[in-house]
Amino acid sequence: MDILLIGSGGREHALAAKIATSPRVGRLYAAPGNPGIATVAECVDLDPADHAAVLSFVREKSVGLVVVGPEVPLVEGIADALEPHGIAVFGPSRAAAQLEGSKGFTKDLCARMGIPTARFRRFDAAEPARAYIESEGAPIVVKADGLAAGKGVTVAATLSEALDAVDACFAMPGASVVIEECMTGPEASFFCLCDGVRAVPFGTAEDHKRAFDGDMGPNTGGMGAYSPSLLMTPELVERTMREIVNPTLKGMADAGMPFKGVLYAGLMLTSEGPKLIEYNVRFGDPEAQVLMMRLESDIVPLLEAAARGDLSTADPAWSGAAAVTVVMASKGYPGAFEKGTPISALPQPGEGEAIFHAGTSQSAGQLIATGGRVLTVTATGNGVSEAADRAYRLVAKVEWPNGFYRTDIAHRARG
Ligand code: AMP
Ligand code: GLY
Repeated sequence: MDILLIGSGGREHALAAKIATSPRVGRLYAAPGNPGIATVAECVDLDPADHAAVLSFVREKSVGLVVVGPEVPLVEGIADALEPHGIAVFGPSRAAAQLEGSKGFTKDLCARMGIPTARFRRFDAAEPARAYIESEGAPIVVKADGLAAGKGVTVAATLSEALDAVDACFAMPGASVVIEECMTGPEASFFCLCDGVRAVPFGTAEDHKRAFDGDMGPNTGGMGAYSPSLLMTPELVERTMREIVNPTLKGMADAGMPFKGVLYAGLMLTSEGPKLIEYNVRFGDPEAQVLMMRLESDIVPLLEAAARGDLSTADPAWSGAAAVTVVMASKGYPGAFEKGTPISALPQPGEGEAIFHAGTSQSAGQLIATGGRVLTVTATGNGVSEAADRAYRLVAKVEWPNGFYRTDIAHRARG
């Protein structure tokens, strides 16, 4: 079977590398891909937003499965554009992608299905939002409603910080906000493959969202991750399935928007049990990098079964090893950064190691950094500490003067 993978980040490089090892795959195409992905797939110059172009490519090449990496094409309805033509798509419909695209939609579903999450109210105007904040007091959380790449959330320690966040949101025309109770506890990322009816647990991870060591600095898309999460015990996984994921699948199916693809639950492990912070409708980046290093099963039958609506026999197998990934980003990220800086040398990864490209391109034979997050340097090990040591030894061999990275990835699990 030939496969088209949509995306160009580190997550997609990790998915491509795993898909490419499957005996089920004939040709693997990636749109648009990147220089790392090009080592395992054929990169095609295809704009994922141009659904007609994607459809005609898929037909011309007789692609049997389209795997969508990022959320934007899903929220823009790429599955809806392809599926009526009989093309299997791993990823939800536009309607089901609202689980990530609209915080208000997800909160309404949680309320309907009794899913534990932060108490919340949704507002379309600043004045009632301000009044609600004043009546609730701080700490309190203010979220812009819509896709905001992790940047639309303010965990406000004080009333004035919360009120400023409301004003900033409503400076944009047509804005709405969700105001939430502030939950406390450690966070974990939990993944499930879904076929519209069933959800199958598909690994756990912990992410480091802040830019700098010690969890300081601004929020980013993620500066590093490890898997498995030591916090997600089998009991917690079972409870999360029962109280959060299964009711979500049921609520979505009942509403006529069955969810298929990967459901990524951001969880807060509170003293009262796991609570949903948010859903994403795709793999995490960089969490996919650590999951793919640990997945022993062939991923292709799993993706295909989810896309075709029957995961009843799926039983993914994981290595007992831990995996750690360290993100190397352009200096200045997540703010302004210089583009096109040269990466003069990349080490050759050994067994159980990988350097996934996230934001690179090739210019006149030179590898250059084009993104904020540029490389995700990944290693497995016998436990998180060993995996982290191996990943950092590899990072030290990357010659890229404009790069920076956190030196404390996986510190929470290293003891
Ligand atoms: P989100 O984009 O919704 O994942 O939020 C980004 C980060 O903000 C989360 O990873 C949490 O650290 C924090 N956060 C979001 N919602 C809450 C909440 N209700 N209480 C406490 N922290 C939160
Ligand atoms: N690493 C967080 C995310 O992918 O949303």
